[in-house]
Amino acid sequence: MNNYLMHIHGEWVGEELDTLSVTNPANGGQVGTVPNGGKAEAEKAIAAAHVAFEPWSRLTAYERAEYLKRWHQLLLDNEEELAQLMTLEMGKPIHESRGEVKYAASFIEWFAEEGKRIYGETIPTHVSGKRLQVWKKPVGVVAAITPWNFPAAMLTRKMGPALAAGCTVVVKPSSESPLTAIKLMELCEKAGFPKGVVNLVTGSSTKIAKEIMENEKVRKITFTGSTEVGKILIRQSADQVKRLSLELGGHAPLIVLDDANVDVAVKAVMASKFRNAGQTCICANRIYVQSGVYDQFVKKFANAVEKLKVGNGVDESVDIGPLINKAGLDKVERHVRDAVTKGGTVVTGGKPITNDGGVFFQPTVIKDVDQTMVMMQEETFGPVAPIQKVESEEEAIKLANDTPYGLAAYVFTENVARGTRVIEQLQYGIVGWNDGAPSAAQVPFGGMKQSGIGREGGHEGIDAFVESQYVSIGME
Ligand code: SIN
Repeated sequence: MNNYLMHIHGEWVGEELDTLSVTNPANGGQVGTVPNGGKAEAEKAIAAAHVAFEPWSRLTAYERAEYLKRWHQLLLDNEEELAQLMTLEMGKPIHESRGEVKYAASFIEWFAEEGKRIYGETIPTHVSGKRLQVWKKPVGVVAAITPWNFPAAMLTRKMGPALAAGCTVVVKPSSESPLTAIKLMELCEKAGFPKGVVNLVTGSSTKIAKEIMENEKVRKITFTGSTEVGKILIRQSADQVKRLSLELGGHAPLIVLDDANVDVAVKAVMASKFRNAGQTCICANRIYVQSGVYDQFVKKFANAVEKLKVGNGVDESVDIGPLINKAGLDKVERHVRDAVTKGGTVVTGGKPITNDGGVFFQPTVIKDVDQTMVMMQEETFGPVAPIQKVESEEEAIKLANDTPYGLAAYVFTENVARGTRVIEQLQYGIVGWNDGAPSAAQVPFGGMKQSGIGREGGHEGIDAFVESQYVSIGME
């Protein structure tokens, strides 16, 4: 077990502080400790990022890209070490952790190049003797608050564009899984980033976030997490009109229509629903299947789910790891109990597994569910797939949109006109059409309604870290 440190102004610090333990959710064992930092450490990290901003932003995009490319290569070279650590600290099956390291690296590679394409504009003038231009400037010091469920990819999806645009960064990783983020900082150090360009603080979320929100040097917050916390950040950002990018909760509907290829749908739902034990913001949370294929879908899906192996993610053959903690497990149990009490039928699974100190839940399929059940109203964040029968495409759309969330939705139909018509009516920022795995570095990821503000990834992902400066030039 290692005692990890914070990274501020190019130094590893925090040895003198109390520590927080990071535990393995597969067995309750201690994986490492991190310093329990607070206001003072956040302030130092912000000051370091502030001093580093001027010289970093003055580098050319091509020079910044060289640092990012070195970091990208180091991520790939250290895939196995990062993946093992990720699985230990948050439980994801090892093959998924390896996939996440590649996914994380892809953001760095993509944004290293995209930084070279932050173009300004020349606008035709309305009077002679003037030139009207728009220049693009990095927004300033960025605070990136990252979640436990994708400890590498959510960090690089924020840091890649921020650094490429010329911003400097203070990262606050989740206290559930900060170790992967710390390893990524070690790799930044190896990549040679100048002191203060990348900083990381661990410890009390409340104290660190308070300093981030109150410190005028921080110009932008980028956050992935719950809608509840997102709303607090919106309120706290008001005083200083800080820029915000928020990737918040989802409650993804997945619609299987009568003309779907059921085998394709089953394969895609397996990928979407059970990735990271159902602990992703975009995983299918409620499944609506049209009556003509309902029985066939339930049978084939349940057969596939029964083959999933649950266990400690370090075992290469495991498909479903633990939930992140006991609170996560309790929530899943509560949702299942509620559905069963209200008439849902468990087709497979339905029970917690808490042997060996781990917090696991059986991969579960529940049919005959309806909108009165909590799992059809709230994100479950666990390996539970509720299936509701619908009679028509209109009913499916109405139910799908009946939520304050709007992150991701999925539609399965082989009919192009029907698919187009359905998607046009879905109020979701991301739609998978016959596809359960829509994420990629080059596409805009983010939600409508209460699922967030802004987009990460793609060219919109870098826009979030630049400001337009309109310049009117008198030429006479
Ligand atoms: C998330 O769950 O927030 C991220 C999932 C992804 O990037 O695919």
